[in-house]
Amino acid sequence: MYTDKVMDHFENPRNVGELEGADGVGTVGNAKCGDIMKMYIKVADDKITDIKFKTFGCGAAIATSSIATELVKGKSVKEAQELTNKAVAEALGGLPPAKMHCSNLAADALKKAIDNYLGLETKNECEDHHHHEHNDFDHGCSI
Ligand code: FES
Repeated sequence: MYTDKVMDHFENPRNVGELEGADGVGTVGNAKCGDIMKMYIKVADDKITDIKFKTFGCGAAIATSSIATELVKGKSVKEAQELTNKAVAEALGGLPPAKMHCSNLAADALKKAIDNYLGLETKNECEDHHHHEHNDFDHGCSI
């Protein structure tokens, strides 16, 4: 059901934890399962110099976030912004269809962290339910 790459990233997830003094933090909730993902980024010279994540998500969410952090580390902010859920799933050699929604958390949390870094968004959607700037159909907040 899961590729070796998914299992590897699930069993040995990269870049787990928090970043103190992060330049950007993004939190998203997955409306389908109620799981939560938080991503921290450090940026210098327009590059993602460090990135870490924490999640209450399932194994697929852990694996996708782990590979997503590897994919964007060292990349420019713009390149990181262009990371798609599909690219994350593909980098893992695919995910079972029922688990595709789990892969949304990584790219979405990363985008929020970048928005936060760029000052596009001062509050995380999940931390303030009264200030939704946009309502993403697929993702809600469950905290
Ligand atoms: Fe919630 Fe996978 S079941 S992230």
